[in-house]
Amino acid sequence: MIVTTADLFKVAYGKFAVGAYNINNMEQALGLFEGHARAEAPFIIQISRGARAYAGVKMLENIIKAAEEMYPDAIFAVHLDHGTEEVCYECIDSGFYSSVMIDASHEPFEENIAITRRVVERAHAKGVSVEAELGMLGGVEEDIEVDEKHAMLTDPDEAKEFVERTGCDSLAVAIGTSHGAYKFKGKQGLHFDRIAAIQERLPGFPLVMHGSSSVPREEVERINAAGGKLDPSARGVDANEFAKAIPLGVTKVNIDTDGRLVWMRVHREHFRDHPENFDFRKPGKVFIEEYAKFIEHKSEKLLSKGKLEMVRQALAGQAV
Ligand code: G3H
Ligand code: 13P
Ligand code: ZN
Repeated sequence: MIVTTADLFKVAYGKFAVGAYNINNMEQALGLFEGHARAEAPFIIQISRGARAYAGVKMLENIIKAAEEMYPDAIFAVHLDHGTEEVCYECIDSGFYSSVMIDASHEPFEENIAITRRVVERAHAKGVSVEAELGMLGGVEEDIEVDEKHAMLTDPDEAKEFVERTGCDSLAVAIGTSHGAYKFKGKQGLHFDRIAAIQERLPGFPLVMHGSSSVPREEVERINAAGGKLDPSARGVDANEFAKAIPLGVTKVNIDTDGRLVWMRVHREHFRDHPENFDFRKPGKVFIEEYAKFIEHKSEKLLSKGKLEMVRQALAGQAV
């Protein structure tokens, strides 16, 4: 069942975070639904503009519809990741997306507010929820690259004003993470003091953490042992820290890079160990299973494992 992110957040806030995963193809969709079925967890499917261009808008939509038929118990939102104003309108008007992200975080504050406000009006008229972004993460985000010097943590007072003036349903905040495989050096990590200060100004309001992949060391080592060339000092977010961020209002956690690492590890190892093989379904099958296991594991760390029934009851209007 497709629901809005706002519906999921009402149940999740303060108790667990909903994992938001980017998908681009059938294999990822199958692993994603299977992993969440095993974990009995709600989830968010995110579609980036890059994914829409890669697979085609209709193809992605129909992959998700087919997966929904195969997994009738699944409860999830379909979300546009890092949208422009124009693509937000396309998704809102399509009737398929239950939420969109308008990312005007690179614009000046007033312009970000004006753009976000327009998207919120159009989205809410159609029952679609809206995530906006304030502050600047480092790393590469779609076609915009932000170097570490220009990455900026979200200002808590601005966050309060931004939410009040735009009416958005959730806010992506810059709290130390960045997109991609290279997030932290040395002792860097999440800025919990900043998350707490934002929550103090916006109690009960769902915050979104982008750039939440963990880039597990073991995964990087296996990829490199199979011919990859990732920087071995690569570090991401310690997944054990999700549990600390959840009571502070982090309710949606975006993960893409880690799934790509699973894909890369499975395929590199498969073709290293089976150089005679030319049937892509063999590594494909391994990937679907490995991705399902990966999703189940992340659901544990996000504390969303086993919460499906709680969400189902809340959606049916019963007390939780
Ligand atoms: O934040 C961006 C996501 O990781 C999506 O990446 O634009 O390459 O699909 P993509
Ligand atoms: P990662 O690059 O850490 O997986 O972040 C993904 C993301 O924030 C998608 O919006
Ligand atoms: Zn992101």
